Amino acid sequence: MTRRDFIHSTSAGYASLLAWGLLAPAPASAFNLPPNGVSATGKARRVVILGAGLAGLASAWELGKLGYDCTVLEARSRSGGRVWTVRGGTSETELGGTAQTCRFDDGYYFNGGAARIPHHHQLTLQYCRELGVPLEIFNGGNEAAYLYNDQAEGTTGTGSFANRRIRVKEYHNDMRGYTAELLTKALDQGALDKELTKEDIEKLVDFLKNEGDLNTAHLYKGTNRRGYKTEPGAGATAGITTDPYGLTDILRSGFMQPVFYNVGDYIYEQQTTLLQPVGGMDAIPKAFEKRLAGKILFNAPVTELRKTENGVRVVHQKGGKPTELLADFCVCTLPLPVLKNLESDLSGSVKRAADFVPYIKTGKIGLQFKRRFWEEDDGIYGGISRTNMDINQIWYPSFGFQKPKGVLIGYYNFYSRAEAVGALPVAERQKLALAQGQKIHPQYATEFDNAFSLAWHRIPYSEGGWALYDDTVRRKQYPALLEPDGAIYFAGEHTTYLTAWMAGALTSARRAVEAIHARVG
Ligand code: ALA
Repeated sequence: MTRRDFIHSTSAGYASLLAWGLLAPAPASAFNLPPNGVSATGKARRVVILGAGLAGLASAWELGKLGYDCTVLEARSRSGGRVWTVRGGTSETELGGTAQTCRFDDGYYFNGGAARIPHHHQLTLQYCRELGVPLEIFNGGNEAAYLYNDQAEGTTGTGSFANRRIRVKEYHNDMRGYTAELLTKALDQGALDKELTKEDIEKLVDFLKNEGDLNTAHLYKGTNRRGYKTEPGAGATAGITTDPYGLTDILRSGFMQPVFYNVGDYIYEQQTTLLQPVGGMDAIPKAFEKRLAGKILFNAPVTELRKTENGVRVVHQKGGKPTELLADFCVCTLPLPVLKNLESDLSGSVKRAADFVPYIKTGKIGLQFKRRFWEEDDGIYGGISRTNMDINQIWYPSFGFQKPKGVLIGYYNFYSRAEAVGALPVAERQKLALAQGQKIHPQYATEFDNAFSLAWHRIPYSEGGWALYDDTVRRKQYPALLEPDGAIYFAGEHTTYLTAWMAGALTSARRAVEAIHARVG
């Protein structure tokens, strides 16, 4: 059978074929537009780009290759936007907040914004390749991490699982075991005889035996997959496995709530393998920045955006003074909550989109500890613990294993939890993160060093985590952002179906560049 015959004879989807290495990946690198960014009079066409986040940086990089003369206006003193690595010396003052300066030791950091790259985000990976950004594995799912269902005293319903940390591997393997046992029982009793042939039932039972680690009687009686009471060792030390929880107990544990449900392991964006740049996510914007030397104006917030007869006029701050910049085109990557407050003559439909596309509230705290107790005591190397407390998730670093100290992400929360925690002064956020995290890791009490927290909805020039579309908002507001408004083109994750990902910002940049280039070409 030839490769082609095989592809045609199988019902496997494109993604599986890709995964098996049977198809060439989409040519993310093939962005070979003819370089005609120079007008007939020999002058490079001018493009002003608002924002030096990934959408702005990639736009400037690609337009530059085509011969356009780009200027990127960036309000902050750094590039990257929501790609932001927090380390010792990082400072930020949130809207309505007080100044915070990070006191982590040298070499310790956390990614305050974008923090993981799915293996199928071809364009993100392509830019890392092109810009020479080395990658390492980001460990998302970790069977050694914990689930913790916090219950007020006297609350019933979660039984023996209340206020107790459970290893993910115990929950996963018990549930796999019991569901496999129940389905096998149903098959053995002929419940699916009409649906499946006898041979298929036998195969399904074989699968379930392996999936659930059932015994020869097709019963789940526990498995060494969930761990040992006594680890196997030398001489006479045979391993003694832990006992499974009872099915009814687990069903009452509350772990089926979405806050615990480990969709992270299964959903397309979070399946293994995930990646991250070595040394922090800001390696990506920094690599762009190096190649765009002299083209980015920092500390230059935009105050006015106007259409002119032949292009755009942008007023921005330069050395504290309003300064005007004229250009043939504009790529506007400002997040919508920021665009909403900008003086402009943008069309009504764009203004409505800026007003009505909601953004998520989300926050993180980096906690530096004097000792990597999660590794030393708990055997947790990367991955995520989950809880219904306000901290929601604890992320363990996927780098710097076994170093003397460590920074973990003490909360990563969303919506009302992020709003409540983000509304607190930073000292109170720290207190909350420590008090709640300590229920899962008692070592917090003695090992804590210092913290740095952020609430994206309160961070100037972002004012939100990422755009949140539902069907109605997508239908009513999204289309306005896809069309140029005069000579102004929009880019950023909010102009894509890849919201909340760097891949969205990068893809949107290529889309804007292509559209500008097609117009002049
Ligand atoms: N893409 C964001 C994350 O990985 C939402 O958490």
